[in-house]
Amino acid sequence: MKHFKNLLLLVVTLFFAISLISCGKTEDPVESGSENNNSNGSNEKPNETNEHRILVAYFSATNTTKHIAELINEEVDGVLFEIIPAVSYTSADLNYNNSNSRTSLENKDDSIRPEIKGTVENMEQYDVVYIGYPIWFGKAPKPVYTFFEAYDFSGKTIIPFCTSGSSSIGSSATYLEKLTKSATWLNGTRFSSTANQSTVASWIEGLKY
Ligand SMILES: Cc1cc2nc3c(=O)[nH]c(=O)nc-3n(C[C@H](O)[C@H](O)[C@H](O)COP(=O)(O)O)c2cc1C
Repeated sequence: MKHFKNLLLLVVTLFFAISLISCGKTEDPVESGSENNNSNGSNEKPNETNEHRILVAYFSATNTTKHIAELINEEVDGVLFEIIPAVSYTSADLNYNNSNSRTSLENKDDSIRPEIKGTVENMEQYDVVYIGYPIWFGKAPKPVYTFFEAYDFSGKTIIPFCTSGSSSIGSSATYLEKLTKSATWLNGTRFSSTANQSTVASWIEGLKY
């Protein structure tokens, strides 16, 4: 009988010990925590919840495209990158009615590549790149061309979007596509300046990548 009591005591003790250990495990803050650890040393958000690493790059002279890029990034939880020209465009430069304005001259010269500031850290980590720009004379502004010639986009999926007064995205992205090798370009779209979060969300939902 004494042996039986001792055995019972041992079984009960073991049961509680095992229960305590497993409780301790589930409450461990390190295991249950959801803090994002960014290994690239920058303040860029890692999009851990996505199966893709997404870059949302854009050029915007008067912030319309910037706003759309921000809405897109809200949806995809990627990394925003602004393409900034080394010499910014003044309002005189943006005067498309003057055939001698900087933008008019840049539009007429296919070889021109305005210098841009900053670089995308670790471009190789991204597999999806959204690229946004305003339509200038039916095309993408030349700093966007500079951006595409600065990196290797092989193997990446590229999704263009634009804003404009009224023009569609047209063949603006086709000219950019020619600057990349072995990248997959999806059909892009044009947003008006009044596009909101749900406009952007339903466009992204329809994309297959
Ligand atoms: C130099 C220049 C050329 C433009 N060309 C066109 C055009 O061909 N078609 C169009 O619909 N809008 C055109 N626009 C209007 C812009 O595409 C539109 O205002 C755009 O949303 C501005 O974007 P942003 O604020 O991001 O720079 C042009 C604007 C500028 C400054």
